[in-house]
Amino acid sequence: MQVKELISARVSLAPMAGITDYVLRSLVRENSPSALLTTEMISSEFLTQSKGGDIIMRNENHSPISYQLSGHKPKMIADCAKYLEQYADMIDINMGCPVNKVVKGTDGCALMRNTDLACEIVKTVKANISIPLSVKFRLGYTFDEMNYVEFGQAMQNAGADFITIHARTRSQMYGGKADWKKIAELKRNVDIPVFANGDVVSIETAVDCLEQSQADGVAIGRAALGDVTLIGRIEQYLNKGIYLPPPTLEEKVETLKKHLTQEVELRGENVGVKFVRKFYPYYLNGFQGASKLRGEIVLIDNLKDVFKKLDSAILVHS
Ligand SMILES: Cc1cc2nc3c(=O)[nH]c(=O)nc-3n(C[C@H](O)[C@H](O)[C@H](O)COP(=O)(O)O)c2cc1C
Repeated sequence: MQVKELISARVSLAPMAGITDYVLRSLVRENSPSALLTTEMISSEFLTQSKGGDIIMRNENHSPISYQLSGHKPKMIADCAKYLEQYADMIDINMGCPVNKVVKGTDGCALMRNTDLACEIVKTVKANISIPLSVKFRLGYTFDEMNYVEFGQAMQNAGADFITIHARTRSQMYGGKADWKKIAELKRNVDIPVFANGDVVSIETAVDCLEQSQADGVAIGRAALGDVTLIGRIEQYLNKGIYLPPPTLEEKVETLKKHLTQEVELRGENVGVKFVRKFYPYYLNGFQGASKLRGEIVLIDNLKDVFKKLDSAILVHS
């Protein structure tokens, strides 16, 4: 598939380590027929030493799907990209991750300080695969180093087919506000499509972001955590003008149960239930007693009792 088809829904699931696993991607896809899904970041060092395990799992509904690689060794990343071609519709290179342990190894956002190496990675991967290649980066490393326009041009010239830009600098991490207007400057200076990312949390903010950024679509990260319908609702609105309401508490709890069940199927009960704990604040909020419920439920480690607790909470609120 060409990149144009892969991004035709104008919305994607942004990669999130420890979040956008097989189960979350499947739940998003159930609600969103054509949004671009993305795996979490897959370390090229890890993939070279393993076959990838559950991190690379997909099913027949996951297309269009992009697999994100991290690393700084061009040949190693290119070999991993080649291996992933059997699963992926597109390969994405992580050039935006801000966390210390990633940037100190010249991976992630550190590549924005080393345009030559970033270009070499893109060129080497591009020469090794026959599917589209994208890059995801930020506005720059710090406020004084906002090189996103030149960096985007360099990525395009090296062979990238698509860009996702998180409108923050590395030094901002996840704080402050994403500056969507800056993306318009990148758009004016590259010919390849650009998706805007950062702080899109609703249909309204998606529309606002597209207007300010002039981007070709939006990438949704954290807002998909407690609402797997958001990406589908944005897709419906942008492509068909249909405005679907956010899920009710009952619907969110039903999705949480499904999420739990599928993680338990994937990882076993002990690991699966614990894995979903990080999602509780996103699913269970905005109603009276939510904080107490979360405090209680996070202590439970078997599926039956988590379900019982959720059912009793719903009874109180229905
Ligand atoms: C828990 C978490 C994990 C993330 N992991 C990745 C990752 O693996 N690769 C990546 O490019 N960005 C990663 N990000 C950044 C998101 O893709 C996205 O750029 C960022 O959260 C801003 O978008 P949002 O405001 O829609 O969440 C991560 C973000 C979070 C919160």
